[in-house]
Amino acid sequence: MTQEELIQLAFKARENSYSPYSKFAVGACLLCKDGRTFFGANIENCAYGSGMCAERNATFSAYSNGVRKDDIEAIAIVSKAQTISYPCAACRQVLCELLNGDTPIILSNGVQTVVTTIDEITPFAFKPEDLAQ
Ligand code: THU
Repeated sequence: MTQEELIQLAFKARENSYSPYSKFAVGACLLCKDGRTFFGANIENCAYGSGMCAERNATFSAYSNGVRKDDIEAIAIVSKAQTISYPCAACRQVLCELLNGDTPIILSNGVQTVVTTIDEITPFAFKPEDLAQ
């Protein structure tokens, strides 16, 4: 699958965003090395803190179906903001543990595309190995 096709699938996932409060719709599509895809959209709640971001939903969906970090080819995360939106800090924390550090994270707003990695956007992250005592 091309990068552009993965972005288009993330835009398709974005159509399922439930974001009546922020009105900021985000979509994500996680591509596995075997070609499987897992989708996520941001889902909000009237108890604001109970919502969930698109990229965490896509990644949790993949993990819930048995996917693990070495199986993941890339993840695309999209919005239609005026500028590219980078994953929030909570998503970065999750992606630090659930993606390999060099897995491509493709960000797009439909106009501009940036390809980055979780290592690049999350220096000095708290990692599982930090729990060692
Ligand atoms: N949002 C995401 O889905 N991903 C991010 O990384 C940034 C924020 C969602 C959460 C909320 O539903 C809306 O965007 C506004 O913050």
